[in-house]
Amino acid sequence: MMSIKWNGDSVKILDQRRLPLEEAYNTYTNYYDVASSIRDMEIRGAPAIGIAAAMGIALAAKSMIGGRAEEFREKMNSVFTLFAGTRPTAVNLFWAINRMRGIIKDRSDVPGMVDLLEKEAIKMYDEDIDINRRIGKNGSRFLNDGDVVMTHCNAGALATAGYGTALGVIRAAVEEGKKIEVYACETRPYLQGARLTAWELLQDNIPVTLITDSMSGYFMKSGVIKKVIVGADRIAANGDTANKIGTYTHSVLAKNHRIPFYIAAPLSTLDADTPSGDSIPIEERSMDEVVYIGSYQIAPEGISVRNPAFDVTPAANITAIITEAGVIENPGRDGISAVLKKK
Ligand code: MRU
Repeated sequence: MMSIKWNGDSVKILDQRRLPLEEAYNTYTNYYDVASSIRDMEIRGAPAIGIAAAMGIALAAKSMIGGRAEEFREKMNSVFTLFAGTRPTAVNLFWAINRMRGIIKDRSDVPGMVDLLEKEAIKMYDEDIDINRRIGKNGSRFLNDGDVVMTHCNAGALATAGYGTALGVIRAAVEEGKKIEVYACETRPYLQGARLTAWELLQDNIPVTLITDSMSGYFMKSGVIKKVIVGADRIAANGDTANKIGTYTHSVLAKNHRIPFYIAAPLSTLDADTPSGDSIPIEERSMDEVVYIGSYQIAPEGISVRNPAFDVTPAANITAIITEAGVIENPGRDGISAVLKKK
């Protein structure tokens, strides 16, 4: 499966809002549409939105090739701002934008800058698949033959350029011949687990059982779930980790039941500038996501609703963070800064 593809003069994006009922792709030639596609959750998942922003930026640059260098730089700055405003929590988005900004900082020839931006977006995509395979290799040793592994949201091929982070670790263990069964939490309210993770694993013939988010404690207490592995949207300098809403609750339950709780994420998710989880910006999304399932209203008219899209799992609840550069066991400030030096 392919979440996003660079076509030279357009970006092809799998519309994840229509999964699992329909596998439909949209092709965009305008960078505005790529920005809307991130904002509207057509493409989602921390690494994938970073790559989409990079490709959108490359598309924008190509449409501005005619002007003078100063004019080009000014217009590109507003493009960077547009993409930075699409979603607030996943730091990979800002990492990707800064990387694109940095690649042209010492240049003054417009065609050269356009060329560099296109090459950088393609490089970011290629690197991401390789990074995920390395995360998989570093993490597979934590999963044993016969394990039932619970995951939340979707940290798979759909959330990245391919292979996935948390699902990449599961894929790597399966490739090594281990028999792994996944328990996928449905992930209310946007249902990334039910719609995306379940679909993605079924495509790969990896055994998957769908549970509602509130069932995780039941299956931990009864001894069914042996490990928990999830992705991340931002890891603060002290190891506190933002991920999809509900992750924190699972981490408390896992700790209570002495079940290992792993985060799988690329180094681009580590944010040295955010000291702790308290300073991670949490996106609040539309109340309609809570009040409606599809077009079906499930709550009374006028009800007050909150819809934070992410929560923060304290470092103390995390057994290890698995990155492409190595594993940070019992993550804290020292472990994070040691691995950040490799960034
Ligand atoms: O709102 P989403 O679907 O973009 O949230 C995605 C998640 O929370 C993922 O777990 C996270 O981005 C890691 S993806 C490898």
